[in-house]
Order: sequence, then structure tokens, then C-alpha cells
Amino acid sequence: MDRVVLKSIWPVIILVAAPWPSEVLGLNNGLALTPPMGWLHWERFMCQTDCKPNPVNCVSEQLFMQMADMMVSNGWLKAGYKYLCIDDCWMSIHRDENNKLQADSIRFPGGIKKLADYVHARGLLLGIYQDVGKQTCAGYPGSQGFYELDAQTFADWGVDLLKFDGCNYGTLDQLEDGYRRMSLALNRTGRNIVYSCEWPFYARHLTKVNYSEVAQYCNLWRNFDDIEDSWTSVKYVIDFTSALQDELVPVAGPGAWNDPDMLVIGNFGLSWDQQITQMALWSIMAAPLLMSNDLRDISPESKALLQNQEVIAINQDSLGVQGYRVLKVDSFELWEKPLSGRSLAVSVTNRKEIGGARFFQLSQSLLWKGLACKNKCYLTQLLPTRYEYGYFNATCSLPLLVNPSGTVLLKLE
Ligand code: GLA
Repeated sequence: MDRVVLKSIWPVIILVAAPWPSEVLGLNNGLALTPPMGWLHWERFMCQTDCKPNPVNCVSEQLFMQMADMMVSNGWLKAGYKYLCIDDCWMSIHRDENNKLQADSIRFPGGIKKLADYVHARGLLLGIYQDVGKQTCAGYPGSQGFYELDAQTFADWGVDLLKFDGCNYGTLDQLEDGYRRMSLALNRTGRNIVYSCEWPFYARHLTKVNYSEVAQYCNLWRNFDDIEDSWTSVKYVIDFTSALQDELVPVAGPGAWNDPDMLVIGNFGLSWDQQITQMALWSIMAAPLLMSNDLRDISPESKALLQNQEVIAINQDSLGVQGYRVLKVDSFELWEKPLSGRSLAVSVTNRKEIGGARFFQLSQSLLWKGLACKNKCYLTQLLPTRYEYGYFNATCSLPLLVNPSGTVLLKLE
């Protein structure tokens, strides 16, 4: 399937065939049947380990306990965000006398088991971070040589998700072998642990990624660079995903998800329209919805956007098809995501960053032919605001007004 960029004033439109359905063989652990939802500390809190000058924002058990409390009391858990995930920089720089990993004793005085108990008591699940190589990206002890021991340690502590990074891996063989071995080791513990990999991201530089194999070992996996709190970064992820959609879309499905990295909604870098674009596109892409923001201090607008149940329902649709870009024309991007019941989610993004809102003419002929509602589909706009258009006649075209760097998200059923 080709990406299509049209530059002439003639509105030539080239349609792209839907790259699904496909047979997806996910990691057979029965987990992550819909994209995992939760919170991950990295983008917002990074590796702040000195709690003296910054006790409120350093990576500590207090930070995670406060986020756990917020997730429960402010409706996040109810909205579906259930994994509270620790990223890099939680460890002591030494393993213990039995080579077991241990948390930094100053910042996590209770240890990870106690934090897991705290999180579980609130109905949440706990995610943790490790690395396939000799050291994590921030220089803490990696799992190389200790896959079985570390998997068992996580299971003993009550961990529910492992983000397994790929820094300092050695050779390609060691990288790939390490990802496989950790997957098998987690399985052997008998505990339900979602396995989040960065295998394709690191392997991509060295080889052609075998995505069906990755999907056999991992529940989700990162393909590209770390997201940052900026429109440049969000655009980069969106463009990378559409550029590789032939490869990425067919392999996604229940138990196996491409991970375009964290939601940065509610931070500093995105305008309101750009936050809407991230939420809409991450839902269309069936992306894991792992927020990295400060739940103790988030605007009511960003919170409502992140908790929008109809938008989340598109992301969590049980069919588990990853949406894809249908066309790019006149700086508009049209994406669609087939949903269960042969309904469809559709998004239109205005990629011009100059001028005001512009009209895009949506016609049903541009969209997926598998729609159950052939000639008359009920059309609801979900973002930027909810609006029921009512029945959309297949022969009509609908003008949609889209703000620069903003997105209109619709559902047809
Ligand atoms: C890598 C990962 C990030 C984060 C950091 C932590 O860069 O891609 O998501 O986990 O390491 O050091």
C-alpha cells in the first residue's frame, strides 16, 4: 500500500486498500485483549532521582502512591486507565547479595512489593521497567544474564506489566534472544504479566523486523523514538506510523499492539487542537493509552478529553483493528478504523499550520466499503465537540471544518 502525498491544485485522490482483516497470532497469554490503558511516569517525570530539591516530582514511592490515589479518586480508573507504571530509575544501582534486583532504598523505602499491594488495594495494576541489556538506558542494572531471576522477582512482588527496554543490548542476536527469553520467563512464573517490548525500535536499525515473531512474544511494542511533549514529536510519531502502516497495521490485534508511546495530553507542549489530534489518532491507531502527565495538576479540559468514553470506546473496540491513513490531500489526512458491527471511526486532521480552519469534504465513497450501514449511516462527531449529524446519505458529501493541527473525529454506524 502506498502513501499518497498530493501536491497539485487538482484534487486527485488516490484511495488506499484497507490492510485488514488479517490473521494475528498474538502472544498467547490471554492479556491485553484491548490496548492497555494507564499511566507511565517517563515523559513527565523522567529520571529525577534527587528528592531533596524536588520531593514532589522525584521518582519515588510517594509519587506513585499519589498517582494511584488520583487515578481512583478522579475517575481515571473508572474511565479504564488501570495500569500504574514505573519507568526507568526505580532501582538501586546494585543487585543484592543473591543477585536480586532491589528498589532504591531511599526513594522506595517500602520496596516494590509494598507499592504493588498499595496499588492493588485500590483496584489498579502495577507496571515496572527493566532492560534486555547489561544496563537500562539510564545506567541501572539490566536483565542480561538474569532473565529468569528478574521475571520471578517481578512475579513475587506482584507486578502486572513489564516494560522491557533495549539499551545496551550487545549484538542483534543478544537483543532478540533476550526479548524471547524474558517473554518465556514471564510466562513460566504463572503470573499474568503484560509484556511491553521495544524490540522493533532497537532491531529496526540493524535488520528487517519480523513483526509476526515480535507479536508472538510481546503484547505491545515500540517502533520509534521516545515521544516528547511537543507537536513536532507527536507529528513525527503519526507520520512514522502512516509511513510504515503496511507493516504495522496487519500485525496488530487483540493481545498484540503497536505502541506509538505515551499520551502527553495535559502537559505543557500541545495546543488544545493538538491534544485533540493526539487523542483522536491514538484511538484510531488502537494505541495503548498510557498517559504521562501530572494527575495532581491537570486542566479540566485535558482530563475530560482523556476520559471521553466514546473516544476511548473506539480505541478499545473489541475487534482490535488498528486504523490507518486512507489518504492525504491538500494537507488533510483522512484516517479510518473499522469497528465491531462493521461500524467505522473516521478522523480528519488539518496538517496546515498556517491560516484558520479549513473545510474538508467528506464523502462516503472515500471510506471503507465494508460498512454495515451501506447507504444511510448514522454519523456522530465525537471531537472536538460532540454533535449528532444524523443520517449521512452515501451520495452526499459533508463539509467538515477542521482547525490547523486539529482533528475532527467521527463515528459512522
Ligand atoms: C528509553 C525508552 C523510554 C524510557 C527511557 C528510560 O529511551 O524508549 O521510553 O523508558 O529509555 O531511560
